[in-house]
Amino acid sequence: MRITIVGSGYVALVAGACFSEVGIDVVCVDVDHNKIGNLNKGIIPIYKRGLEEMITRNMKKNRLKFTINISEPIKESEVVFISVGTPSDEDGSADLKYVLAVARDCGKHMDDYTLVVTKSAVPVGTSSKVKTAIQVELNKRKVYIDFDVASNLEFLKEGAAIDDFLKPDRIVFAIESSRAEELLRSLYKPFVREAPSLEIVAKLLEAGARVNGYNPVATEEIKHYFENTITYFEDQYEALINSDCLAVLTEWSEFRIPNYNLVDKLSNRSVILDSRNIYDRLEMKDKGFKYFCIGVDTSNDVLKPLLSSAS
Ligand SMILES: NC(=O)c1ccc[n+]([C@@H]2O[C@H](COP(=O)([O-])OP(=O)(O)OC[C@H]3O[C@@H](n4cnc5c(N)ncnc54)[C@H](O)[C@@H]3O)[C@@H](O)[C@H]2O)c1
Repeated sequence: MRITIVGSGYVALVAGACFSEVGIDVVCVDVDHNKIGNLNKGIIPIYKRGLEEMITRNMKKNRLKFTINISEPIKESEVVFISVGTPSDEDGSADLKYVLAVARDCGKHMDDYTLVVTKSAVPVGTSSKVKTAIQVELNKRKVYIDFDVASNLEFLKEGAAIDDFLKPDRIVFAIESSRAEELLRSLYKPFVREAPSLEIVAKLLEAGARVNGYNPVATEEIKHYFENTITYFEDQYEALINSDCLAVLTEWSEFRIPNYNLVDKLSNRSVILDSRNIYDRLEMKDKGFKYFCIGVDTSNDVLKPLLSSAS
């Protein structure tokens, strides 16, 4: 998926870096020529632990770009985040002039369905103003283009922005259509789906286990967390060779019906930990696996010796 983030301030840079880290193509747009010029030279205007490395890594992979030209990114993106500043007005309320300027840009340049999402801190009622601003521009162009407006408030804590973004307690959306919901869910899915597996791997490492990792899409993100403390594989069966236990931590469809004979043959012991309950317990028993899943009362007698022999 390709997304545009308008604004290259604190919120936009963290979101842009993190979305690109999990493989999404991101363009950050800003009106500030200086800022964009510096970002393109690798000069990051703010310091957040891990942010500079993440931005540089993803720029090199061409997944994260910075520009002052808003028209092309909007035309090419399915989702546009508005992440510009909302300074206080004279009466203390949020000044929406920058937000609405971006909404007008969306109306001027979109040429296919677009989901416009406000990430800026804005008051209740802003979405309908954003919607009107976009529609006015579309009317001027005399074109009919379907679009949705959504709100996705940001809750980044100082100092832990990247962790908060990649492992959020919650993600809050206000949406109007199922299409918008689907898009936002798919956009945030990797961060969310991977989060429990990251913690489980960290605990295994702490307990002294040696971990072979395979993930069909998020290897780069996982490398960011674990660097060379785990061994990465491009093939799920290769990762199993000489291992004592297969832990299924995510729900990719390719894990659903594995070649059980191969799993049995490649691993040292036929132990499966299924944290997503994707296999049938009785079938696993029939096939001779020592099978552990969630919510079923099983003893951990098999796990204890595994972990102690690893340490
Ligand atoms: N900073 C935080 O901790 C934080 C946390 C949560 C939410 N927010 C909210 O998120 C929003 C963004 O915050 P920030 O700290 O990233 O702001 P910021 O001031 O650091 O960056 C905003 C950027 O938007 C750019 N901009 C302004 N008008 C533009 C336009 N028309 N087109 C393109 N770019 C434009 C500015 O040049 C600036 O670089 C604000 O509403 C803020 O209240 C901030």
